[in-house]
Amino acid sequence: MKLYLDTANVQEIREVHALGVLAGVTTNPSLVAKALGEAGERFDSEAAFYARFTEIVREIAELVQAPVSAEALATDPEGMIAEGRKLAALNEHVVVKLPISEAGLRACRVLADEGVAVNMTLVFSANQALLAARAGARYVSPFLGRVDDIGWDGVELVRSIREIFDVHDLGTEIIAASVRHPQHVTAAALAGADIATVPYKVLKAMIKHPLTEIGIQRFLADWEKAKQEL
Ligand code: G3P
Repeated sequence: MKLYLDTANVQEIREVHALGVLAGVTTNPSLVAKALGEAGERFDSEAAFYARFTEIVREIAELVQAPVSAEALATDPEGMIAEGRKLAALNEHVVVKLPISEAGLRACRVLADEGVAVNMTLVFSANQALLAARAGARYVSPFLGRVDDIGWDGVELVRSIREIFDVHDLGTEIIAASVRHPQHVTAAALAGADIATVPYKVLKAMIKHPLTEIGIQRFLADWEKAKQEL
């Protein structure tokens, strides 16, 4: 399972990219708004805000040289197609994120036929994932955490989608999204997700284990002791 970072914060992406584990990035409107808010950036028009958004997407794509999902905000198929074309033109690595809906499916088919990679997002059922794959989406994003939030089983959803895609030979990649903790990552990998997109905090937590910390300290202490006894 590949690992993506689920953030629009360029500093976080830079740091994780340096670890050598990053295979891509996903963003969404909430994450872009959060990153710009945290950076204290203010805009005097929606056009200026959107221009900054596209600048960030391009910057991330140039940095990671791997798929970067950017969400189209239009709600009608024509608007999604026009926006999708513009986003895809920003950089060869940009993947257009569209919500699963009638408009999203229509736009997905048109963009996919033009060779644009689409990540169909806000997927909460296996049928939605099947529709996305049939509309030509390169990726589908089931939202694990939000499924868990309403008392269903997000990991089970990933497992069902995996089985359907395998049985019917569908090449659409499954991105486990809305990942909230390290255990979600392990479970998504075991359930057959192709990719997990994880928040920065979760990725950092994945590195750590108390026994690793203790082990490092013990090795260093033993080494120091041995040196003094030379
Ligand atoms: O990957 C989708 C993600 O950004 C949504 O996460 O935690 O808001 O459900 P969350």
